[in-house]
Amino acid sequence: MKPIIALNLKTYKKSSMENSLSIAKTVEITAKKHKRYAEFILAPNTLDLKCVSEYLKNTKLFSQHVDPVEPGKSTGKIVPYYLKKIGVKGSIINHSEDRMKLQEIKNVIEILNKFSLKSLVCVENLKEAKKIAKLSPTYIAFEDPKLIGTGIPISRAKSNDVKKFVNIVKRNSDAIPLCGAGISSAEDVKAALELGTEGVLIASAFVKSRNKKSFLEKIIKTIKGV
Ligand code: G3P
Repeated sequence: MKPIIALNLKTYKKSSMENSLSIAKTVEITAKKHKRYAEFILAPNTLDLKCVSEYLKNTKLFSQHVDPVEPGKSTGKIVPYYLKKIGVKGSIINHSEDRMKLQEIKNVIEILNKFSLKSLVCVENLKEAKKIAKLSPTYIAFEDPKLIGTGIPISRAKSNDVKKFVNIVKRNSDAIPLCGAGISSAEDVKAALELGTEGVLIASAFVKSRNKKSFLEKIIKTIKGV
């Protein structure tokens, strides 16, 4: 399986509005050029999803959050049905910056499945990983909230836990194990893959990098060697 590089643009000014569009174009060029070696997921700010959608063919467009609702009597929700309509391919769920209850996660995975949308559920620890694995989402991402945005990579700082996480996911589901938090360089990505994950989530290091094309190219070069 090709490694997954999931880029969460969060709500940074540097990656929102017109900036999200230029980032999306860069990611798409890289994803197209290297489609044999990696699979790219891009999760822009919710308000930018529709605008970037038409530029992405080789990159999977994901929402940063989704609600367990169908079209109709709900206010202020992100509705899977409409995500599908605008070309979104899946969603991050239960990110530590946007936590959900277990029952809501279960419901939202079911609705996403109904629309053939992928589910990427974040977990903060191994106990939560076991519970979520039983819901069989498409991907489960281990992100230690304490490391998010610090530049200290989970793949080095918590390597034992990442290994245990991969085992838990494999024993309890067919979900694809990913990890994120502090991943800042190609070497951090390599470490994550060597621990048995099948990809990473990256936010701040990518958003803050001056040369995004070169940031991604370095990762691809390293992936080719793993
Ligand atoms: O979803 C990915 C994210 O939470 C990791 O953030 O800034 O540590 O790469 P960061």
